[in-house]
Amino acid sequence: MTPASAIKRIGVLTGGGDCPGLNAVIRAVTKTAILKYGIEVVGIEDGFLGLVENRVRRLTTRDVAGILTRGGTILGSNNRCNPERHHVGQDPEGRPLFADVTDRCMQTVAKHHLDAVIVIGGDGTMSAASTLLKRGLNVIGVPKTIDNDLVGTEITFGFLTAVATATDALDRLHSTADSHHRVMVCEVMGRNAGWIALTSGVASGSDVILMPEIPFHLDAIADYINGRMVKGPGFAIVVVAEGARPASGEQVVARHDPTSPDPIRLGGIGRVVAEGISARCRVESRTTVLGHIQRGGPLIAADRILATHFGYHAIQTLMTGRCGRMVVRDRNVFGDVDLMTAANKQRLVPADHPLVAAARAIGTSFGDRLPAAAAPNDPAVVV
Ligand code: F6P
Repeated sequence: MTPASAIKRIGVLTGGGDCPGLNAVIRAVTKTAILKYGIEVVGIEDGFLGLVENRVRRLTTRDVAGILTRGGTILGSNNRCNPERHHVGQDPEGRPLFADVTDRCMQTVAKHHLDAVIVIGGDGTMSAASTLLKRGLNVIGVPKTIDNDLVGTEITFGFLTAVATATDALDRLHSTADSHHRVMVCEVMGRNAGWIALTSGVASGSDVILMPEIPFHLDAIADYINGRMVKGPGFAIVVVAEGARPASGEQVVARHDPTSPDPIRLGGIGRVVAEGISARCRVESRTTVLGHIQRGGPLIAADRILATHFGYHAIQTLMTGRCGRMVVRDRNVFGDVDLMTAANKQRLVPADHPLVAAARAIGTSFGDRLPAAAAPNDPAVVV
């Protein structure tokens, strides 16, 4: 591995699903490298695919001007390519065929004289990056995902913007639910973690929050909603994480993609919950699936700041001679951990998280058998 003092040229890539803040990190990485250290930067297109296919281009400070607030990634991304298991076609029976193309990646690295690569991505990207690290390339990771589920860091960039988007949607559903005395169910992303559902649910004052970490009972939700319809305001907002599941059932899978390192795509639980409520309560319900809207668009100020910190810190980590690290934030302090800390793992919401306790205390239901805060002294409640 090239010693920090000899680093002249680095690459940067964005892997996995896109996320608000990728461009802000690319900008911070590029500007810090060029302006502070005089290092050249090249952008690798479409994640690891650009390394496999030798698609790289020089990045100047001019190339990254004006991208701080822009969603998406100017480099393109790819959530399929893992150099160790690259999809190369299919066999006569239609089954996908894979090959190890790490050598091709290392040829691209050599051809462009890259002394290190900054990889911006999630758990799959960190895992893929570790294969290049094993071949002697220094790799520094920057944790990205709207799901906020990476192990080793208390926050990932993009999450707060996704929460703001989901909260705005839930606020809008509130007024239409109220007007029509309906139950509005809103399905949000998050994979197997409930961070987006929990935080947007609390931020919007949603009545029921369903997340993978707390399996739900439709009967418990129905009892709670019947209470609100009869004694309460006569409508309800339910936010459900795509990975939530009934205590007696499974997650709802939208589709399988055998060519992807993460082949399961969740989706559809919102409709199941809405139908379950309608069948149990004398109330109309509607479902909204927010989907990729949560990943797009301009980022909020907090993410611009976080992404800039992370990008700057990635270069600092590299230039202080660290190898195979992922930059993180822990108790508000920026640091770095072993790249493999986050690889192929997920950080879930603890069922006793303080925000869950706070939400329960103000009467929010999590659809489990634990009662939401009882209100014997509340004059608004007829007991
Ligand atoms: O990990 C980010 C995420 O948006 C998840 O919340 C979601 O399950 C998944 O990606 C969707 O992936 P795709 O873009 O392949 O549909």
